[in-house]
Amino acid sequence: MSTGNEDYRDAGLQFPDGFVFGSATASYQIEGGVHEDGRGPSIWDTFSHTPGRVVNGDTGDVADDHYHRVEEDLDLMKSLGLHAYRFSIAWPRIQATGRGPANQAGLDFYSNLVDGLIARGITPVATLYHWDLPQALEDEGGWTNRATAEAFGEYARIVGEALGDRVAVWTTLNEPWCSAYLGYASGAHAPGRTEPLASLQAAHHLNLAHGLAIQSLRSVVTNDPQYSVTLNLHALRGDGPTGPEAVRRIDALANRVFTGPMLHGAYPADLLEDTAANTDWSFVQDGDTDIIHQPIDILGVNYYSTTLVRVWDGTGERESADGHKAVGVSPWPGADDIEFLPQPGPYTAMGWNIEPSGLEELLLAVHAEFPDQALMITENGVAFDDVVSTDGGVAAVHDPDRIDYLRRHITAAHRALEAGVDLRGYFVWSLMDNFEWGYGYTKRFGIVRVDYDTLERLPKDSAAWYASLAATGRIPD
Ligand code: FCB
Repeated sequence: MSTGNEDYRDAGLQFPDGFVFGSATASYQIEGGVHEDGRGPSIWDTFSHTPGRVVNGDTGDVADDHYHRVEEDLDLMKSLGLHAYRFSIAWPRIQATGRGPANQAGLDFYSNLVDGLIARGITPVATLYHWDLPQALEDEGGWTNRATAEAFGEYARIVGEALGDRVAVWTTLNEPWCSAYLGYASGAHAPGRTEPLASLQAAHHLNLAHGLAIQSLRSVVTNDPQYSVTLNLHALRGDGPTGPEAVRRIDALANRVFTGPMLHGAYPADLLEDTAANTDWSFVQDGDTDIIHQPIDILGVNYYSTTLVRVWDGTGERESADGHKAVGVSPWPGADDIEFLPQPGPYTAMGWNIEPSGLEELLLAVHAEFPDQALMITENGVAFDDVVSTDGGVAAVHDPDRIDYLRRHITAAHRALEAGVDLRGYFVWSLMDNFEWGYGYTKRFGIVRVDYDTLERLPKDSAAWYASLAATGRIPD
């Protein structure tokens, strides 16, 4: 029984030995160097260079210039005492067109990164796909095309052969929900398509890619890593009498479309019924769900806020405050009768409601459904409009709101742990400010500030707070 602060503002809670405190980033968001060493274009290069897609026309061309500053960034992580670093590998650095022989220079970049982590005592946690699909594969249909999943299996084998003696945790996909529905239904993310059927096909091919990648990795790695996938499971709450039905519907589209085949070995029957007007799911071939249903060691959970739903009564304007960038087209195929309601604040700079209890609820719900599955919070964090102050001539970012957000969510994680959830770690999003997709550089999630003119890194107060947590395993005062 946890009896803590009712606002989740606990201090002094002790995490068990071995609980991992890390930070996370993604290739396109930090690397820059988009033309270096044989990297091919990804769908995010194309998308960000298309006028009107990203706020201010921002692109990842330079981003944090991590590609050229990797040693400095490794030292930064070491100075913060991070236990682990979750990074992603840019597929178009490894295969410029998504097919064919490996580009050695691309592999060398990540091999050097992994060595640099290990040399500093930081555990490498590698994600194979954090949204930067080679553009050449999109030109053939992208994730609507089954061949993309097969190509991904081959890419996983190449990367596994190169790094599969050192990477400790492999994650196949980051948030396939975003890839499928924001990429192919609402078009808020690359490749920017607005085809409801395509989004469901994409979801299936992403699932298949996950299964094929785990099989490939297992066949080539030489150490004893853990395998995982990271999902942005939606923490759903229902409003009023139709709340439970709306929760069931969105739970199917957002969560069970992935956990069903990955962890139970089948698509949920209600999902197939709910989307019958969009598709008969004939793109799911015999044997696919067996491929997708691979044992995994860790399920990665990304959590930022809650989602409140009800069935729309058809009058007035349908609310669509689902937290995903508003572009006028719904990311929810077959759910035009579901409303996403605005929620009480406080809010982050993304407009997301701050609700740490949602994280505790989500972890408990996942644990109840999959009691033997170890979990890891692979992303949690917050964007605020940080201000640089120069007290006493020294530049600093005092970000008490971010510290408060982290404290409350890490308290929620601790409560879940005490309630029996097999939770292995927590990764703050993000190590440093970076390219926040459709919002460009306007949203700062880092515990380290990046000055986009000079590219200088400046640890915020939250970085010191997090370093203290990582050093002691105890939530600081
Ligand atoms: C997640 C993404 C990550 C970052 C955070 C804020 O959906 O995985 O890249 O953009 O949101």
